[in-house]
Amino acid sequence: MPLLQDKIVLVTGAGAGIGRAITLAFAHEGARIAAADIDPAAASRVILDADAGNTGIAIEADCGDVGSINAMIEKVVGEFGRLDVIVNNAGVTRYSYIMDLTEADWDRIHRVNAKGVFFCLQSAARQMIQQFEADGSNGRILNMASISGRGYPGASNAAYAASKGAVIALTKMAAQQLGRYNINVNAICPGVTRTELGDRNAVGRAAARGITVEEMRAEQERTIPIGRANTPDDIAAMAVFLASAGARNITGQSYNVDGGLVPS
Ligand SMILES: NC(=O)c1ccc[n+]([C@@H]2O[C@H](COP(=O)([O-])OP(=O)(O)OC[C@H]3O[C@@H](n4cnc5c(N)ncnc54)[C@H](O)[C@@H]3O)[C@@H](O)[C@H]2O)c1
Repeated sequence: MPLLQDKIVLVTGAGAGIGRAITLAFAHEGARIAAADIDPAAASRVILDADAGNTGIAIEADCGDVGSINAMIEKVVGEFGRLDVIVNNAGVTRYSYIMDLTEADWDRIHRVNAKGVFFCLQSAARQMIQQFEADGSNGRILNMASISGRGYPGASNAAYAASKGAVIALTKMAAQQLGRYNINVNAICPGVTRTELGDRNAVGRAAARGITVEEMRAEQERTIPIGRANTPDDIAAMAVFLASAGARNITGQSYNVDGGLVPS
């Protein structure tokens, strides 16, 4: 039997990279998916590709805006009647040296990565608490953090690292306070992962070093103990496990998926 049969799952930032891989993996495990993205065409594409066209829905949402977040949750509940799992994956950054970061960078990054994750979590938990009170059902919240929140020196920038540290702290506190409603809250800390976001940062990183992107990547992989970067599927595999029955007693944890890059 598929691990997530008929679970109602909302993935944010589902249109590309890690969110896209998670959407495809969850659909493969039998989940019914709401794919939310600020780019509605990308959200629609992933629903088609997941072959969830019959049951899945695409939602245009800005996960840095509380009104848009609440409307996104309402849409999922309006369509499916409930919400079992939310994957708070949407995130933004840019490669920058600490002294070049601006107030606008801080606000742009924290608006989505920290404030957005908090309000997605709160809005989803509001629905999951109602479900628990109706029938005792279990809710799962997965937050996308990063090894950047754990001191990885190769983080794209310091403001981004701070936003991911916030996600790790939020995960612990939310697990403590939502456990009484049978809601598990966990985070994943991806290491170097080959996605569009990773590609954009690679260009800036290589330029800053005066080397090619290929040279920079080869160098980066030499620092990873297991010798390879992640594909988005490596993160999706962990997300499937954390959403599955086998993880029912895991909460408040943040798991590195990084080939051993950052000991935690
Ligand atoms: N790629 C990496 O190496 C890496 C490493 C650690 C953590 N992460 C984290 O994983 C998550 C996904 O990263 P990715 O590499 O797949 O990124 P990506 O840029 O490839 O994809 C992100 C998706 O999120 C969407 N998005 C952006 N802002 C949004 C918003 N305000 N509301 C809704 N959707 C929005 C984009 O349209 C895009 O479809 C992020 O939280 C990121 O910080 C990535």
